[in-house]
Amino acid sequence: MKPLFPALFALALGCLLPSAHAAEAIPINYDEAKVGNDPLPDPLTFANGRPVKSPRAWRERRQELLELFQTHVYGRSPGRPRDLAFAVTSTDPNALGGLATRKEVDLRLTGKANGPVIHLLLYLPNGATSGVPVMLGLNFEGNPCVNPDPGITLPTAWMRDHKEAGIVNNRATEASRGCQASRWNVEKILRRGYAFATVYYGDLEPDHPDGWKSGVRSVFPATGGRTVAKSREPITALPDDAWGAIGAWAWGLSRVVDYLETDHAVDARKVVLMGHSRLGKTALWAGAQDERFAIVISNNSGEGGAALARRDFGENVRRINTSFPHWFNGHFKRYSTNVAALPVDQHELIALTAPRPIYVASAEQDKWADPRGEFLSAQAASPVYRLFGTDGLAAPEWPAVHQPVHSTIGYHLRAGAHDVLDYDWDQWLAFADKHLPAMKRR
Ligand code: GCU
Repeated sequence: MKPLFPALFALALGCLLPSAHAAEAIPINYDEAKVGNDPLPDPLTFANGRPVKSPRAWRERRQELLELFQTHVYGRSPGRPRDLAFAVTSTDPNALGGLATRKEVDLRLTGKANGPVIHLLLYLPNGATSGVPVMLGLNFEGNPCVNPDPGITLPTAWMRDHKEAGIVNNRATEASRGCQASRWNVEKILRRGYAFATVYYGDLEPDHPDGWKSGVRSVFPATGGRTVAKSREPITALPDDAWGAIGAWAWGLSRVVDYLETDHAVDARKVVLMGHSRLGKTALWAGAQDERFAIVISNNSGEGGAALARRDFGENVRRINTSFPHWFNGHFKRYSTNVAALPVDQHELIALTAPRPIYVASAEQDKWADPRGEFLSAQAASPVYRLFGTDGLAAPEWPAVHQPVHSTIGYHLRAGAHDVLDYDWDQWLAFADKHLPAMKRR
């Protein structure tokens, strides 16, 4: 007989967290024979059935697809804020034992120090003679989590409690320094000649269903326009096609590029964007919308990221909409029990980065993210890349563990669990070294 206590505990938790409880009840499939076989939409066919036969026609199809993803999945985001302003708040030319110059920059989204601010942490490799490429990524637990460097300013933003990581009473403490250093080998990146830039994703919006009320979504109207005026009235509700949290985090990444374009120490045409898990979904959506990202890397991004939505394996649309309703727009909920009606699928999200290099990384034990579905999605994006005369994903079959492919669409399946490891960075650095020099100037 099962002990009663865990069952009661689960029940109590279920009452406290209705969405968690409802989510648990959703069936999850891990049987390849039951993944379904709904046909994927063709990225190279317009909604009206016209085929896309040239890179020029793709520009038009690209707009159509962006519009579809905005309407049905991630929502519409605003453009660059009219009053965006930058303020360097600290500089240390002798950080990390002299390896780098550490810079902290406030991106004041309404131009004001007391308005919403993104705190950017930037390391520049010392001794570099000209503008260097940049590795950029949002982090989960505050800037100090990426490295034990005592000079990184402790964030004051809301964080989910995580005692082992030094996050207590929803605040980062001194103990959080370096708590995710294993995921960000900052020194390795710098030694390879890249700058490293990161922002705490909660600076944009706290990651919970009510987060938008205190994040950027409460401040900027999601008009989808390029130039957005400061809102006069507080926003009290969001329309069904307005941006979700993934949209808000992705928008923040574009604001970082706005800053990098003003910093002559870096080459803002060579920004490599990496994101893990929900932030991998975010990186893909950011790279799809904003062509200033030179290379996009998705790590273990799974459902709502690289993995095909129509393949029912691991997390599925219904489950993600129930557990994390705030990540996507209101309309996406319509597809929870009818994925076949979704006018797009995730291979088209990957294709929106074409012809820029993109890397999809999976982990063998990360079944929840459907590693095979991530590969098939990258493969199904290939025809768009080939339209541009590139090799797309040069892997006819799903590669075995640790058989990385560094074609214009890169892919690897790493041994181990849902995480970011040195093995991943070794691949991405080699991939960026290979593809960045060949990229045309915009
Ligand atoms: C959950 C969620 C995933 C997500 C992951 C993460 O597991 O179901 O979709 O990628 O969290 O961001 O860590």
